[in-house]
Amino acid sequence: MPPTLARALFLFAVVASTAPAATETQITLHGTQSGPVINRNIYGQFSEHLGHCIYGGIWVGKDSPIPNVQGYNKAVIDALRNLHVPLLRWPGGCFADEYHWKDGVGPLDKRPSMYNSNWGGVVEDNHFGTNEFLNMCEMLGIEPYICVNIGSGTVRETQEWIEYMTSDADSPMANLRRANGRDKAWKVHYIAVGNEAWGCGGSMTPEFYANNFRRYNTYIKNYAPAKADALYRVACGASGDEYDWTDTVMKIAGKQMDGISLHYYTLPNRDWKNKGSATDFNKGNYLATISTTLDMDTFVAKHSAVMDKYDPEKRVGLCVDEWGIWTDVEPGTNPAFLFQQNSQRDAIIAALNLHIFQAHADRVRMANIAQVVNVLQAMILTDKDKVVLTPTYHVFEMLSVHQGATSLPLDLKTPDLSQSKEKIPTVSASASRDAAGKVHLSLVNTDPDSPATVSCVLEGISATRVAGRILTAPTFTAHNTFESPHAVEPKAFNGATASGGTLSVVLPPLSVVVLDL
Ligand code: AHR
Repeated sequence: MPPTLARALFLFAVVASTAPAATETQITLHGTQSGPVINRNIYGQFSEHLGHCIYGGIWVGKDSPIPNVQGYNKAVIDALRNLHVPLLRWPGGCFADEYHWKDGVGPLDKRPSMYNSNWGGVVEDNHFGTNEFLNMCEMLGIEPYICVNIGSGTVRETQEWIEYMTSDADSPMANLRRANGRDKAWKVHYIAVGNEAWGCGGSMTPEFYANNFRRYNTYIKNYAPAKADALYRVACGASGDEYDWTDTVMKIAGKQMDGISLHYYTLPNRDWKNKGSATDFNKGNYLATISTTLDMDTFVAKHSAVMDKYDPEKRVGLCVDEWGIWTDVEPGTNPAFLFQQNSQRDAIIAALNLHIFQAHADRVRMANIAQVVNVLQAMILTDKDKVVLTPTYHVFEMLSVHQGATSLPLDLKTPDLSQSKEKIPTVSASASRDAAGKVHLSLVNTDPDSPATVSCVLEGISATRVAGRILTAPTFTAHNTFESPHAVEPKAFNGATASGGTLSVVLPPLSVVVLDL
């Protein structure tokens, strides 16, 4: 035996004996059955006047040296187009309940400034307003989701804003819009009636909010003639496990609403005062954070059960219109701007949450990760003209094949991670069939050390070819930077084979895989 071959065999034996064993996961994919349709709005995004989400992120202004399309940051616009964003929430967040929309329309030099009291006391010049937001949505084929101000605004302001955006009548607000250069009404379907009314949106009790929802909702009129364009009104829902809020608001206003929201942020240490770093954490912290994010499943199931009391037909959607990981800000940045890096851990978190929403697609009709650019679990980070796509961006892009597809039920048997005291299933899975009949299976291996082998029985699916993509990294802290923007990116995946009605997959540690059958 040549010495080089002997050495190679020796090395192989050492690696094989020390490599962690793959764990066994069994899936039965019921291709003959159909679950609910996965509403594409589950892949929604959120944009707030906060830090550099709007200014310096989405909007740089027409006179900026940064390449732009009518004032929109060109690199951001291009990245959003490739992401297939179905829905975008705006203008907040907490900002929404301080926002007076008339300050943000008309000639830029006539727009008054305002003090952004929630996010660092910066002075907002209102250069990005209703026209700028809705024109961008229209350009990118995104459904706008407008949060109206019921905290510090009036019913009249809300009524007029809806008229400004959606009426084609010869009426005062529609004419104001025309005077501002826009003839036709925009297509606006989704309206949130206030944000976090229990907190920054007015410190209301659930009874007070529910009655206010009914009052504002009365004046949120349908101007569009087509029934299909009727407004979809989302009531302000609970945070985390505040089931009483959902109960009271559903009891008082359930019949008037189309959706109710839920907010839940993943805090690595379950502690608002000590959230933890976005990129400097150890295995114990990784595991604790994964366990924390999985609480979303309980919250969705329990709020949904409360809604069933008042809405057993599931007419009202649960809209998770703020979610994601919230860490400490990057060192040296403004603490009020919520600028955080984004790691492979966050990619795993994004995929797990999307799987949870898909598993509850009968009730979850919308979700909006916070936030789209430069804030919290962002898709895109910018530094002047430089742009980084985060691992979370790649997960949203890879899993977008599920948007609008019909979910396929599956049975999953997977061991819990042995390294964790808390229960963390090793593999998470979700499947759908799209309009063209193609089946998509997404898989996540949460194990930071070991590969996971998956054996999947394909009931009623004849898979002759399996194509796939994978997002993985050597460590959970891996992330993309302005200096190294391609460190974590999807690649072709060849670790799956189909034969005799069974799909066999080996998922590397810390991986998200999407297979097309
Ligand atoms: O997304 C950041 C903030 O978190 C939002 O403004 C608010 O609604 C929530 O508390």
